[in-house]
Amino acid sequence: MKIAVIGGDGTGPEVIAEALKALTSVCALHDIELNYDELNYNGTRYINEGKLLTDDECQGLKEYDAVLLGAIGHTDVKPGILEKDILLKMRFDLDQYINLRPIKLYENVDSPLKNVKPEDIDYLVVRENTGGLYTGEGSFSEKNTENEVAVQKMIYTRHQVERCIRFAFEQAVKRNQDKAWKGLSSKEKEEGFIGKVTLCGKTNVLTYVYDLWERVFHEVGKEYPKIKRDYVHVDAVCIYMVDNPARFDVIVTGNMFGDIITDLAAITQGGLGVAPGGNLNPEGVSMFEPIGGTAPDFTGKNEINPVAAIGAAQMLLDHLGYKDAAIALDLAIRDVVLKMQSQAAAKMGYSTTEIGDLVVESLQRHHRAS
Ligand code: IPM
Ligand code: MN
Repeated sequence: MKIAVIGGDGTGPEVIAEALKALTSVCALHDIELNYDELNYNGTRYINEGKLLTDDECQGLKEYDAVLLGAIGHTDVKPGILEKDILLKMRFDLDQYINLRPIKLYENVDSPLKNVKPEDIDYLVVRENTGGLYTGEGSFSEKNTENEVAVQKMIYTRHQVERCIRFAFEQAVKRNQDKAWKGLSSKEKEEGFIGKVTLCGKTNVLTYVYDLWERVFHEVGKEYPKIKRDYVHVDAVCIYMVDNPARFDVIVTGNMFGDIITDLAAITQGGLGVAPGGNLNPEGVSMFEPIGGTAPDFTGKNEINPVAAIGAAQMLLDHLGYKDAAIALDLAIRDVVLKMQSQAAAKMGYSTTEIGDLVVESLQRHHRAS
């Protein structure tokens, strides 16, 4: 298998180095051969050569089995340029239509929520990743005058909505097929339900786009009689994520709401240092990344938390079908998190590289024991 590795900017390369350390170790133990090509599609190259991600480079990524990405963004580049023409270009041009963000509270990780236990925070957010407000369609009229009007369009095709919602229902089946989701009432279990998908929308205001989402949600959902359908407005989703996160199994939503609620979700699971995500094209090439960004204040200090990046590598293994290796790496992450003082950068009790070493040690220890 061939993996494209894009460290990116800021702390991206540092955390990706630890992810590669973990991948190399787990692959050696499980007889998996992965080959890596490191690619410098990043802000520094843009500053030096004026080059963003070209069409050829982006299409070239289709030659790989997966992409592992650190973070894109540079303090010397105006916000919006690198994001749009590197990160979002990759997501769009490779049609990575699902942004999958698992929200899990690991043992020993501090959540800012009171009295939550790991079993209370364990859900998946399925964020649509190619449409909505992110299409960049819009306009200014009478710019810089008193009468200026700015328009940014939220655009969804039925096709985009349907494939995303179907993916969410498939995930709900997959997560719960061995054991029904614990959040179901006894009545729901008796009725034969095994899991739940919550549509996070705003049908009371966005009466076109989320009307489409809601109709498609029920149409597609009917094909999954064992999955309970649940609709919640996005503002109320935010309340529940804080007040009663155990009510969620799988959440499906559009691009903009998904962006916002996954940052909130990430903080409830201990912050961006632990939160990985996958940009998936189930029929093509997928990209895995820690969702935290470039953390310029910590760049080059060996203080940033690499757990999210190692988690992204774990998702990559799982996606490529290396289930045993993915399970082993997940166990090692949990093991190391137990030893860490905090998930916040500079407060971990270890350096970035030490965390990577601990993950490797744990992988080797468990492998010998098994
Ligand atoms: C994310 C990020 C990106 C997004 C930015 C950097 C364009 O916030 O991956 O959630 O909005 O999708
Ligand atoms: Mn975001």
